[in-house]
Amino acid sequence: MSYNLLKGKRGIIFGALDENSIAWKVAERAKEEGAVFTLTNAPVALRKGDIFRLGEKTGSEVISADVTQVDDLENLLQESMKILGGKIDFILHSVGMSPNVRKGLHYTELDYNYMMKTLDISAISLHKVLQTAYHMDAMSEWGSVVALSYIAAQRTYSSYSDMAQAKAMLESIARSFGYHYGKKRKVRVNTVSQSPTITTAGKGVGGFNAFYTYANCMSPLGNASSLQCADYCITLFSDLTKMVTMQNLFHDGGYSTMGISDKLINDCFVCEGDCNEKLEGDELTIGKK
Ligand SMILES: NC(=O)c1ccc[n+]([C@@H]2O[C@H](COP(=O)([O-])OP(=O)(O)OC[C@H]3O[C@@H](n4cnc5c(N)ncnc54)[C@H](O)[C@@H]3O)[C@@H](O)[C@H]2O)c1
Repeated sequence: MSYNLLKGKRGIIFGALDENSIAWKVAERAKEEGAVFTLTNAPVALRKGDIFRLGEKTGSEVISADVTQVDDLENLLQESMKILGGKIDFILHSVGMSPNVRKGLHYTELDYNYMMKTLDISAISLHKVLQTAYHMDAMSEWGSVVALSYIAAQRTYSSYSDMAQAKAMLESIARSFGYHYGKKRKVRVNTVSQSPTITTAGKGVGGFNAFYTYANCMSPLGNASSLQCADYCITLFSDLTKMVTMQNLFHDGGYSTMGISDKLINDCFVCEGDCNEKLEGDELTIGKK
C-alpha cells in the first residue's frame, strides 16, 4: 500500500546486497512511495550482481562506492545529484562488516587492524558520508539521514564482537553530526536499532539463530521484519517526522524494554544446568515448570 510519502523526493540508498538486505526492502518501499534514488554498494557487492536487478525494478542507477573512500563518496553525491536533478532529500546508510566476525576471532583475540576496518566500514563511514554531503552542500533543507544499528551498542551480546563498538560509535556520530547538520540545513540524522533480521550480515554473527529466537520470544510483538524496518525508515525520510533528530530509535517489537516474558518462562526456558538447582533458603526453582 502506498501513501505517496516520498513523492518528489530524491535519495541515495547504501547497502542492498541481495533481496534479503534491509536496504533492498527500503528501495522497494521508497519506489512505491514515489521517491527517485540511486543505489550504491562496494565494488565487490556490485560484482555479485543482484543490485542491478533491483536497479531495473526501481528504475534506479547503480553507482559503485566503497563507503570508506571519500573520493568515491564525492563522486556518488555528484553523480546522484546530476542523475536525480537536484539536492538529496534522504540517505539510507545500511552498511556493516567486521573482518573479526568474518574470520571467527574471539573477542579476547581481536586483530586490531581488522578492528580498525570494522570501525571504518560500519561507523566512521557514516561520518564520511555526512561530512562529504555537508561540504558539498548536497542535501536539501529538512533532509533525512538514517543509519541502521543494533542494541549491542548498549548491551553485551557475547558473539557480536567489535561490531558492538562500531554500533555505539555509529549512534554517537548520528547524535554529534545531527547537531551540526541540523543547525546548518535542518538536516536530521537518526539511527534505527533493528531486531535480528535474516540477512547476509545478520547470519554472519555467531549464534545468530539464538539472537533471533530469543528476541522473538522476548518481544510482545515479536521480531520486526526487514519490510517493517523499511516502512519505519520511509516515515523517517518523510515530512511527517521533521522534528525527529539525533535519536537512536528502537524498532524491535518492544524487545529493548523487556526483562523477561511469559513466553520465555513457560515455553522456551529449559535449563538443566546448575541454575536449575534450588537456591539455598529459597523455595524458588528456576527453570521449566
Ligand atoms: N541483520 C540483522 O540482524 C541486523 C540487525 C540490526 C541492524 N542491522 C544492520 O543493518 C545494516 C544492513 O545489514 P543487513 O542486515 O541488511 O545485511 P546485508 O549484508 O544485506 O547488508 C550489509 C551491506 O554492507 C555493505 N558493505 C560492506 N562493506 C562495505 C563497504 N566498504 N562499502 C560499501 N558497502 C559495504 C555490503 O555490501 C552489504 O550490502 C547493517 O548496518 C547491519 O549491521 C542488521
